[in-house]
Amino acid sequence: MSHPPSYDELNANFDWAIAERELGYRPGDVINIGWMCSDRLCRLGLAQKLALLWEDYQGNQKRFTYNDLRVCSNTIAHFLSGLGIRPGERVCLFLDRVPELYVGFLGILKMGAVAQPLFSAFGDESLCVRLKDAGTAAIITQKKHLHKIRKIREQLPNLRYAIVVDAPQASLQERETAFAMEQASPVQDFPIYPTKAESPSVLHYTSGTTGQPKGAQHVHYSIIAQYLTAKWVLGFQPDDIYWCNADPGWVTGTSYGIIGPWANGITQAVLDSGFNAGKWYEFIEKYRVTVWYSAPTAIRLLMKEGAEIIRKHDLSSLRHLASVGEPLNPEAVNWSREVFGKPFHDTFWQTETGCIVIANFPGMEIKPGSMGKPFPGITATVLDPKTYELVNRAGAAGLIALRPGWPSQICGYWNNAAGYQAKFRNGWYLCGDRASIDTDGYFWFMGRDDDVINTGGHLVGPFEVESALLGCPAVAESAAVAKPDPVNMEVVKAYVTVKQGFQPSDDLELEIMNHIRKRLSPLAMPQEIEFVDSLPKTRSGKIVRRILRCKEFHEPVGDLSTIMDD
Ligand code: PRX
Repeated sequence: MSHPPSYDELNANFDWAIAERELGYRPGDVINIGWMCSDRLCRLGLAQKLALLWEDYQGNQKRFTYNDLRVCSNTIAHFLSGLGIRPGERVCLFLDRVPELYVGFLGILKMGAVAQPLFSAFGDESLCVRLKDAGTAAIITQKKHLHKIRKIREQLPNLRYAIVVDAPQASLQERETAFAMEQASPVQDFPIYPTKAESPSVLHYTSGTTGQPKGAQHVHYSIIAQYLTAKWVLGFQPDDIYWCNADPGWVTGTSYGIIGPWANGITQAVLDSGFNAGKWYEFIEKYRVTVWYSAPTAIRLLMKEGAEIIRKHDLSSLRHLASVGEPLNPEAVNWSREVFGKPFHDTFWQTETGCIVIANFPGMEIKPGSMGKPFPGITATVLDPKTYELVNRAGAAGLIALRPGWPSQICGYWNNAAGYQAKFRNGWYLCGDRASIDTDGYFWFMGRDDDVINTGGHLVGPFEVESALLGCPAVAESAAVAKPDPVNMEVVKAYVTVKQGFQPSDDLELEIMNHIRKRLSPLAMPQEIEFVDSLPKTRSGKIVRRILRCKEFHEPVGDLSTIMDD
């Protein structure tokens, strides 16, 4: 096995043009992610190489070569064009992790439309907010999720089609159309839409502190960064079998669960099933997984299951382990060294960055608890939160900031230019997180700089939860905040005042929890509801979540004079 290049070697003379050359792209050319992840590999002689090894919770299996990816994504692209979907229109993927999700993603991009993946566990309200905001033209889904779409259909005048991948046309209603990918006539040649570097590609909704979720608009040029970061940070080698735990409803599941591996011509394995330690280890053993990209909450859940179960499986195929989404605690790194013989490598990035920006690289000395160092070509630092000047002292806390202009940076928030503009200061993009940098240049995560709740690596916006809480007849006012949790890092907690005529009770608590679970998602469901007589507010009447959050974390509230005067 070749020795991975050192961090200094990777940095020497770095230029994103390295990725452009390797992908055969010259500035100004057509660049289409759908084509680059399928047709291009076939042209390079990988047509018969396995691209996707798929299995679901019942043990059903499917395999797709790069040529299958090419033809099936052509077939979907052709079908969408036939329905009259136009380039630039948003097509939502609302599917479990079935092959149609992965292939459909490429197909949408091939015909020039924008792929809008949404987590299939979302309830009707979460779905409606995101489809309405994006003016989505079509949604590709499964029969089991159709009831949620039917419920909100009237509120979505732009939604012309619901495309159902596993139901006969006879069972569908008006504006619903059946599409069976594997039964459709295969389309060998499809005229790829000539997208350019700046053409919109993927629209991912992400949560902020204020307002409803924002649509982070990615562009086709993002593949330049996703390709190279996947290759260097995940340490891909040609015969790898790669497994990414993330669902493509979130950015990790597209940047490194579709684009990164397939741009590199890697075989990836997908398990369409929730967490189950035994099943996961069986999956690694069965498919001889070599590179595994996971998340701290999953690792902590595996830690809880203990080492005994690991000894029952042959996991010797594993070569490289990486993690993303939340702080990776040192215990998890040390445990992984002990039980797998190799550490998880923490990586840091976000929906808006599109690619890994800070990482522990293969071969680099890991300091457990640190996120590692910036990817070559990424200028990252920490800024003083008041002046936005560089913090020039090792170990001092500051706001994580990036110099704009890397290839997978989003081009903006959909319909919300001001929201994106607000993320920049003094020529830096602010991630909304706090960290320190040590004397060796390693970044250490300290926390978020806003009220967003990170539960199991998924961001939940307090405003979205609070809006949904107001939909409960008993709720007068509410505040959603993070509460520490040993496994999920944080969970949602809601403080609620009730309307006159309602009494706080255990039944009411359950009713409210269920309401959020169904309308938003299980992730957004408060794990605890505290009924209170009043909520802390500024003089102008704005609820101050920070006071409640500090209470949950047993932290001092600090100086409130500025917010209270607001
Ligand atoms: O707060 C940081 C946290 O997750 C946020 C990004 O979330 P999202 O846009 O949903 O993308 C998640 C996957 C890329 C960040 O602003 N985060 C991500 N990675 C880490 C992290 N926090 C600590 N350590 C990490 N390695």
